[in-house]
Amino acid sequence: MDYLKILGRQNIGGSVSIGGAKNSALPVLASALLYEDFLEIGNLPDVADVKTLVRLLEYLGCGVEWKNEHQIKISAQRLVHTKATYDIVRKMRASILVLGPLLSRFRKCEVSLPGGCAIGARPVDLHIKAMEKMGAEILIENGYIVAKAPQGLRGAHISFDKITVTGTENVLMAAALAKGETKITNAAKEPEVVQLCRLLEQSGIKIDGIGTDTLVVYGNGGEPLKNAQVDIIPDRIEAGTYMCIGAIMNTPLCIENVIPEHLQSISDKLEEIGFTINTRDNILEILPAKKMQAFEIITTEYPGFPTDMQAQFMALATQCDGTSVIEERLFENRFMHVSELQRLGAHISLKGKVAQVKGGENLRGADVMATDLRASSALILAALVADGYTQIHRIYHLDRGYEKIQEKLSKIGVKVERLKEWGR
Ligand code: UD1
Repeated sequence: MDYLKILGRQNIGGSVSIGGAKNSALPVLASALLYEDFLEIGNLPDVADVKTLVRLLEYLGCGVEWKNEHQIKISAQRLVHTKATYDIVRKMRASILVLGPLLSRFRKCEVSLPGGCAIGARPVDLHIKAMEKMGAEILIENGYIVAKAPQGLRGAHISFDKITVTGTENVLMAAALAKGETKITNAAKEPEVVQLCRLLEQSGIKIDGIGTDTLVVYGNGGEPLKNAQVDIIPDRIEAGTYMCIGAIMNTPLCIENVIPEHLQSISDKLEEIGFTINTRDNILEILPAKKMQAFEIITTEYPGFPTDMQAQFMALATQCDGTSVIEERLFENRFMHVSELQRLGAHISLKGKVAQVKGGENLRGADVMATDLRASSALILAALVADGYTQIHRIYHLDRGYEKIQEKLSKIGVKVERLKEWGR
């Protein structure tokens, strides 16, 4: 196992280039199961979660050809079976994304229940209910969702009780090959959902309401899709994390290869704190603040402030003037980074889903543990302003979603080493 050792309070600057969005790559990879010949995907991020899903597709029997580390051609002409085993699903909850496409194309599947995770219970009941509404018979047996639809899925009205990103994506993929129309109300509007809609549309599936909370998918009755090519959109959370690096160091930083409109809520919040954000085409620049003001955040669905940026802003709040208030509305347990930030000297009080962060703190380096993907990046941010060295352990969480993190940090001047844990 590796850990990162970071020396704080060093000068950084320059520019960093953002990779493809993990959260877009995963549904697009799963959608390869809908294609008769092949789906070619470019700008894939080189991260562990992508590798995990590709392994699952290979395990199911898909042909996989890597053109280079960012480009893959997947063929789902013939599958060996339709079972997504616990071994793979437990590594990554988003494996649930194969449920919709397997069921609509192959009319049966078994997908392991993902189980709990560090940031909360994260059930998949809404995915299951939606598939049942589309005509699937579903049993939960030995920890597996055992689903079949011998006559194929049929269009239905799916009204989500809660907005769910992967739930919306699963229904979109199921609806593409279903018989008749599927109307999804209270659908997620995240850019990653929009990218999946556009891909299906490009592959011949008519979809109304793309980018809104009401989608209507006109299913093609069960025909596999013809081949297609798609490039993954830039990762708005990776970009937002590097924007926070510029912010916490209060130094200019250029973030390249972004779609600025996907970063609006993050840019707005940084401007409210006191930074200047300039954008030009696909480049965004953060410029220092005269004074960093405390702020308030409530996490919510896109286009609101993303839960995936909550931990990074908490680290930033330790350096602002005054007390910031952060309310986590999406995941009940997404505050695991609080105790680790406290180890570095942060003053944070937690009451239910609201954290109060005292600003103007002088952090000191320490050993800390990454607990989930985004919590890990908050620890990097804090380490950058802490006195001395911070060792961040369990960084496999970071590798799940941040491409070449050590190289990218080094390039902007961070003194960072990746080392092996003692005795491993
Ligand atoms: C996706 C993102 C994740 C992000 C999250 C919220 C991917 C691969 N992951 O996760 O990075 O943090 O959206 O923006 O895209 N819920 C239920 N039942 C369900 C499904 C969800 O109760 O069947 C609840 C969840 O517990 C949570 C809320 O709905 O409270 C939103 O979760 P959801 O949007 O489904 O998150 P994911 O799609 O898993």
